[in-house]
Amino acid sequence: MPMSLDSTLTPSTPATATATAAGAAAPAFNLIRPQPYTEWAPQLDAGTKAGLRRELEQGAVLFFPQLRFQFEPGEERFLDSRWSDGKSKNINLRANDQAVRGATGGEQDLKDLYVLIRRYAEYSEKLVLSLFPEYGPHMVRAGTSLRPSEIAGRPVSWRKDDTRLHVDAFPSNPMLGQRLLRVFHNIDPQAPRVWRVGEPFGDFAKRFVPKTKGMWPGQARVMEMLHITKRRRSEYDHRMLQLHDLAKADLEYQANVPQQEFQFPPGSTWIVFSDQVLHAAMRGRAMMEQTYYLSPKAISDHTHSPEAVLARMLGRPMVVG
Ligand code: SIN
Ligand code: FE
Repeated sequence: MPMSLDSTLTPSTPATATATAAGAAAPAFNLIRPQPYTEWAPQLDAGTKAGLRRELEQGAVLFFPQLRFQFEPGEERFLDSRWSDGKSKNINLRANDQAVRGATGGEQDLKDLYVLIRRYAEYSEKLVLSLFPEYGPHMVRAGTSLRPSEIAGRPVSWRKDDTRLHVDAFPSNPMLGQRLLRVFHNIDPQAPRVWRVGEPFGDFAKRFVPKTKGMWPGQARVMEMLHITKRRRSEYDHRMLQLHDLAKADLEYQANVPQQEFQFPPGSTWIVFSDQVLHAAMRGRAMMEQTYYLSPKAISDHTHSPEAVLARMLGRPMVVG
């Protein structure tokens, strides 16, 4: 019987959890699980790996305070928002591309950016495969990004405002139940990356799923035909998007939901299922990020996985076929 996350929640300690957002209830939990590893391919015994996987799947943030991603000489110059092309906030590398997107610079700069971001993709993959070897056959490398702009004070619409608590969901890229696993690294040498992390997914779902709607007949097919979505949207994607939007639109929820603020220090790394962990990025200047799509087949404990929670609440599978 898998242990529930709630039963493993520990009281937060001043060492890990800092002040909560103004007005929010004091955090009754601490989802941050510090890990001692200093290598990107640590050799762990089977019991340790199983424990990490259980925590990750229950919705914890695996935090590696001393897992540093080093710049090669000259790469520090990329710690500057001027390398963004102004249209996209991130500089992105798609898994099979040989060049970055969303960047501006000379030919050599763009090549160097590619080398930097590709190296992060390779290090992250070593880490994930070392910690969770069972995920390997079920995992697809998706985008890698460098995010070299300060988060705080960015003018964005409420829906794109990642300083509001949310779970990740994409309007045009239906996941069909594939999980979103992300490896983050604070590459800024001085400023922490400040996140808020909210209540467990099951509690969040209890509050907002009753406010979500199903699709109208033919909707998924029409959206696919009009290229609004890249493939046919499932009910899972439809409900997850609404959960994302309902949470971001609700300022009362943002202020009062049980949450903790956490400062990821310079040179630290963390791993989360970002479709499950309610998160908001409040401040920070430069981050690297790797996304993986993970088949739900890889998950050993479905108790807290979003598709399973929604299916239980609505009484049917959210992805058909
Ligand atoms: C997010 O995934 O919401 C943003 C994370 C970050 O930029 O730190
Ligand atoms: Fe997010």
